[in-house]
Amino acid sequence: MNSVILQARNITKNYMQGSTQLEILKGIDLEVGEGEDLCIVGASGAGKSTLMHLLGTLDRPTSGDVLFRGQNLFQKNEDQLSEFRNRNMGFVFQFHHLLSEFTALENVMMPARIGNDSIGKAKEKALTLLDKMSLSHRSHHYPSELSGGEQQRVAIARALMNNPDVLFADEPTGNLDSKTSSMIQDLFFQLKEEFSLTLVAVTHDTHFAQSFTRTLRMEDGHWV
Ligand SMILES: Nc1ncnc2c1ncn2[C@@H]1O[C@H](COP(=O)(O)OP(=O)(O)OP(=O)(O)O)[C@@H](O)[C@H]1O
Ligand SMILES: [Mg+2]
Repeated sequence: MNSVILQARNITKNYMQGSTQLEILKGIDLEVGEGEDLCIVGASGAGKSTLMHLLGTLDRPTSGDVLFRGQNLFQKNEDQLSEFRNRNMGFVFQFHHLLSEFTALENVMMPARIGNDSIGKAKEKALTLLDKMSLSHRSHHYPSELSGGEQQRVAIARALMNNPDVLFADEPTGNLDSKTSSMIQDLFFQLKEEFSLTLVAVTHDTHFAQSFTRTLRMEDGHWV
């Protein structure tokens, strides 16, 4: 394997449900190489999204570490962590989470505005990304004026806005018909090459899963 970009060491995640402790992740180890494409599969409730959120630092584990190029991420405070995340990680979810009161272009620009890029520079970059997604002609549409596949392409453009090293995708084709899924699938692998991304995805879509170099299966909070 190439050098390791992302490493999970003995990650656990518990939730309290009333007085009962739910053990959702039961000691997960993982190494992801630079430029690797990894797919995580498994039954509903296995803990896939929970793990992806922890790897992406959107949530903290109960115990265990996540390292990015050897740097122990959960030693950072919330501000440092969100800055780190904004610079290094991109996310695409099943439901696109676009902001309905903003146009496609404004949605794509959003991460750069948070990151304090100049508006002019951010706009130029966002338009280039929308063009790559074949959406130049839709840049001034609001999410409700876009098809499901178009909304998902806008979400992908937004995820790429800050040149992430790792792109996380949780069921990115979960809401799309098979033709659109297949188009989004091809797009992920094109973008992976073009932007030298490390790709970590969760999917129930067997066709999508088969296009990955490496697949790991999770069952009840551990690998099988
Ligand atoms: N905040 C929470 N509090 C309590 N339990 C939770 C919480 N978040 C998730 N869970 C539980 O953790 C388990 C794993 O959830 P997770 O979303 O990681 O599953 P998943 O593998 O992504 O499933 P799916 O394929 O349906 O998306 C589920 O049983 C869920 O009910
Ligand atoms: Mg999930």
